[in-house]
Amino acid sequence: MKWSPAGPLRGTLVAPPDKSLSHRAALLAAMGSEPVRVTGYLRAEDTLSTLAAVNALGALVEDRGDELIIRGAGLRGAMEPDAAIDVGNAGTLMRLLPGWLAGQSGGGSWTLDGDESIRRRPMGRVADPLKLMGASIETRDGGFAPLRIEGRNLDGITYQMPVASGQVKSCVLLAGLMADGRTTVIEPMPSRDHTERALLRAGVPVSRDGLAITVGCQDELELEDVHVPGDPSSAAFAVTAAVLIGGSRLVVDGMNANWTRVGFYRILQRMGAVLIGPLEEPGSPLVPDEPLTQLDVAAGPLLGTTVEADEVPLAIDELPLVALLGCFAEGETVVRGAQELRLKESDRIATVVDGLGALGADIEATADGFAVRGTGGLRGGVLHAHGDHRLAMLGAVAGLASRDGVEVVGMEAAAVSYPGFVDDITALLAP
Ligand code: S3P
Repeated sequence: MKWSPAGPLRGTLVAPPDKSLSHRAALLAAMGSEPVRVTGYLRAEDTLSTLAAVNALGALVEDRGDELIIRGAGLRGAMEPDAAIDVGNAGTLMRLLPGWLAGQSGGGSWTLDGDESIRRRPMGRVADPLKLMGASIETRDGGFAPLRIEGRNLDGITYQMPVASGQVKSCVLLAGLMADGRTTVIEPMPSRDHTERALLRAGVPVSRDGLAITVGCQDELELEDVHVPGDPSSAAFAVTAAVLIGGSRLVVDGMNANWTRVGFYRILQRMGAVLIGPLEEPGSPLVPDEPLTQLDVAAGPLLGTTVEADEVPLAIDELPLVALLGCFAEGETVVRGAQELRLKESDRIATVVDGLGALGADIEATADGFAVRGTGGLRGGVLHAHGDHRLAMLGAVAGLASRDGVEVVGMEAAAVSYPGFVDDITALLAP
């Protein structure tokens, strides 16, 4: 699909539903015993995989159009489907589900598999801590999918995570709900805390002491109805376009302002973008609710910046956009400590550097990130999405802000997280 240079974006974007929170809403509802009403659920490929998975595991999902009613299987009631569970492209589903299934003390066995990209992503990072809890979980050689899990009685552990990962943390905490004793996860630095907040809302006493998060064994989850707020990672594409294209003025409505998710917006502010609207303060205490915000965004001159390792988990999915912003900023933009980018839906250090480089960017890869020298703009050309939804949308925004436009090969990948992307951007570009 060709994205031609565009005039300003103007209007209001209702931030599309949050992918991370939709996965968690469906999974926790499936682990509960009472019906849960979910509004604002993201209907994208990844989160539809989660609905299919929980359905296969015994939860009933009633789709009423504007809401879902999910009748769970119970914390220890996951059923054994006839076939392997196919997570598609969804890393979050692949990494959270084992936490629930490994702790099925009544037994049962499950195979989890996914697409070609999922089969390349490391799963030892969830299998290893689960094994320390006594789980039976096998991976393909080297720690890759498919995974084979047998339900067992688990023991609580204290686990020092080698990398800051919301997915790994969530997996261990979910297993901790069914394990004897207490389970503590210690992060090297804060990562997204949606699972902790959702568990608090489900009546689970979750405590956080610095970087250590602890849960204990539960009889059941008592979930309240859930509303899924707007996704800061998806909204970031239109926000970046508005910041780059002169004369733009964009309001983003209903966006999650959880401090563990809005690192990108703080980077943008540091680069000089005009962004008005409250964001939760970094290091805010653990609370059950997800905060909402409305942002007012306008285009403006940008300065290069350096993103250090401690900021990386708070902006991990938006770092490709930092590279694009760096092309237009004065001076150099550097991202360090982001080697995790190599393990996403594609190797995002390679695909971003090669992709933007082919469009005329002065960008180079480093072992743990990239460095971009701002040249005041971007020529344009062809960008390959490599089946990675965030690459496809990066290419689209690059095209709108470029001199000659960008042909994105594989635009359909956007449907993994943001099926309404093309329509939303088109509406904001309308005169
Ligand atoms: C996610 C956590 C992050 C993020 C991913 C979603 C989650 O991955 O990149 O898109 O929902 O917990 P890691 O846990 O690998 O950092």
